[in-house]
Amino acid sequence: MKRNLLALLIVTLFTISCSQMPKNNTASETALPIVENPSEFIHQLYLDKSGHGLENTDVSTLEKMNYAQKNVIYGEITYNGAITLFEKLNIKGNDVFYDIGSGVGKLVLQAYLTTPAKKSVGIELVGSRAKKAETVYQQLMNQGILSKAGNKELKYVEADVITSDLSDATTIFWANLTWEEGVIDKVVQKLSSSVKHPLLIVSHKSLDNYPNMKLKEAFTVECTWTSRSNVYLYEMEYPVSSKNTAINTSTATDNI
Ligand SMILES: C[S@@+](CC[C@H](N)C(=O)[O-])C[C@H]1O[C@@H](n2cnc3c(N)ncnc32)[C@H](O)[C@@H]1O
Repeated sequence: MKRNLLALLIVTLFTISCSQMPKNNTASETALPIVENPSEFIHQLYLDKSGHGLENTDVSTLEKMNYAQKNVIYGEITYNGAITLFEKLNIKGNDVFYDIGSGVGKLVLQAYLTTPAKKSVGIELVGSRAKKAETVYQQLMNQGILSKAGNKELKYVEADVITSDLSDATTIFWANLTWEEGVIDKVVQKLSSSVKHPLLIVSHKSLDNYPNMKLKEAFTVECTWTSRSNVYLYEMEYPVSSKNTAINTSTATDNI
C-alpha cells in the first residue's frame, strides 16, 4: 500500500514538473504575427530611416569596388506587395528567406514578423542602408521582440551578395531591375554552385535564359515606384545542369 502511494506521488510530481517546463517551440509553432499590427509597427520603426540617397562613404566604397551607381538605385516593395510575394512563395516553417539587396531591411522584417520562415536574412551592399537595418535590429532586441519568436532568426548582413554565403536559402526575393547584367550573372552562378536543394526565387528581371531556372509564374507586386511591377517566380533546379554557364540575357520589364 505504502509502495503504491509512493509510486503515485512520484508520477504526480513528474507530471507537474513536466507541465511547467518551458516549451521548445519550433519556428513553425510560433504564433504569427509576432506583433499585433505588423504594418503599423514597421511603419513607426522606419519613420526616421530612409533607404533613398547615398552618403559620401557609400559613393567612395562603390567606386573602390568598381560598382556603377545604377546598381544601387533605391525603391521598395510595399507592405501589400510583400503579402502577395509571401503568398506566392508559400513560405513554411522550414524555409530560409533571403532578400538579396535588402536596403534598410523592411521586407526582411516583415518576413520575420508575419511568415513562419525559420530564418529571414537581408544582404545589403550599401553601408548606410545596412547600418539602418542594424539599428532596427538593435531596437527590436531592446523591445524584446526578438525573444518572442521561438527559434526564428532575423539576420542583416552588410555585404556584396556575390561574395555572401547563400547556401541555406530556400526562398529568395531579388529586386534587381537596375543591376548590371554582369552582376546578375555572378549571382546566378553563385546560387547555382552553392545551393544544394531546389530553390524558389522571385526576380524583377527575367531569368528565362538560365537553363536551370524554370519559370513557374509571372505576376505583379506593388512597389514604391509603381502599383504593378512585373516579377517572375522561378524554381532553380537541383542538381544544377552543367549547361548552366553565365549567359548574359536578363531583361528588365519596368524601371524604378
Ligand atoms: C531596389 S532596392 C530593393 C530593396 C528591398 N529589397 C525592397 O524590395 O524593398 C535594391 C537594393 O539592392 C542593393 N544592392 C545592389 N547590388 C547589390 C549587391 N551586389 N549586393 C548586395 N546588395 C546590393 C542596393 O543597394 C539596393 O539597396
